[in-house]
Amino acid sequence: MDTLKIIRPDDWHLHLRDNQALETTVPAAARCFGRSIIMPNLNPPVTHVEMAYQYRNRILKHRPANSDWQPLMVLYLTDNTSPNEIYAAAESGFIHGCKYYPAGATTNSDSGVTDLNKMNSVFKAMQETGMLLLMHGEVTSTDIDIFDREAVFIERHLRSIVEKYPNLKIVLEHITTQQGADFVLNHSDNVGATITPQHLLYNRNHMLVGGIRPHLFCLPVLKRDTHQQALISAATSGSHKIFLGTDSAPHTQDAKESCCGCAGCFSHHAAIELYAQVFYQADALDKLEAFASINGPDFYGLPHNKSKITLQKNSWQLPDSISYEGSQLIPLGAGSSLNWELIG
Ligand code: NCD
Ligand code: ZN
Repeated sequence: MDTLKIIRPDDWHLHLRDNQALETTVPAAARCFGRSIIMPNLNPPVTHVEMAYQYRNRILKHRPANSDWQPLMVLYLTDNTSPNEIYAAAESGFIHGCKYYPAGATTNSDSGVTDLNKMNSVFKAMQETGMLLLMHGEVTSTDIDIFDREAVFIERHLRSIVEKYPNLKIVLEHITTQQGADFVLNHSDNVGATITPQHLLYNRNHMLVGGIRPHLFCLPVLKRDTHQQALISAATSGSHKIFLGTDSAPHTQDAKESCCGCAGCFSHHAAIELYAQVFYQADALDKLEAFASINGPDFYGLPHNKSKITLQKNSWQLPDSISYEGSQLIPLGAGSSLNWELIG
C-alpha cells in the first residue's frame, strides 16, 4: 500500500499563541486539519466568552484564502469562573469546551484552578449544558515526583470527579502513562483522551540519554518506554475513546535552549505524518483514520469532515528550523526522516 486516503483529520488540542505567532501557527494548522481545539493559555488567559470571540477573529484573519479550517474555542477555568459564563459559552456556538489547568502546572497556567473543590457550581453548569471539560491531568504538589504527577492526579482527583459528575464529558488531555490509558479505556463513554505525537514517538531516554534535549521537553513530561508502549497500544487499539491532539506548542529556540527552558513541542509542520509514522511502525495504518478523523468529532458531537486527505509512502526530511515570531523554532523531529508524506 503506497497511498492512504482518509477523512480530513482534526486536532483536539492546539496552542496557536497570538498576534505575530498566528502568521506561522494558523497556516500550519490549516495545512491538513479541518478543525482545531484552541487552547486558551494566553497571557492574560481567555477566561470570558467575549475574549474567546475576539481571539477567534484574530485567528481567522490568518486563515489561508483557500481553507475552511475552523478554530474551536475553549474557555480557561479559574477560581473565579462563574456558572453564568458557562451558560454564555454554551450558547455562543463557537466555544466547545473549558480547560482545567491546575495552577502552576505548565506554560501560562498561573491563573489556573487552585482547588478542584471550588469548581462545584461550574462543573454542574458544564454537565447541565453538555460543555466538555478538558483536563490537564497533573497534580502540582511539591511532594509528588514530576514523573508521577499524572498517575497521582487520577487517584486523587479524577476518580472522584467522574463519580460526582457522571454526565460530565471529560477529555483527559495529552495522556502520558499506562495509568492514564487504562483509566480512560476502562471508564464510561463520557471519558476520552488525546495523545500527542511526541508521547507516541519518544520516551524519557530520548530526552535525557547522552545529553539534555530541550526540544523534547513538554508537559506532562515524557515517561519511561513502558508508558510509551502503552500509549501506542491505546492509540492503535481502535478504541473510540482515544483521539488525536497534537498539543503543538511553539516556543522560540532561545526560550527552549536556556538554563530554564520552557515546556512545549511544535509539531504542526508535519502533524499527520508524525502520527502516520507511529501507526506505520505499529503495523496499524488501518486504525489511523478512526484516531485522527472519527473518534474526536464523535466525542465532541460534531460531524466528520467532508473532504479527505492523501498520504503517500515516501521518505522525506523534516526541516531543521522554522521561522517564528521574527525568530525561529526547532520543530519536533527536526532534520529526521519520515516514511509518509501529505500530498493532498
Ligand atoms: C504547553 C504550552 O507551551 O502552552 N506546553 C506543553 O509542554 N505542553 C502547555 C500545556 O499544554 O501544558
Ligand atoms: Zn497543551
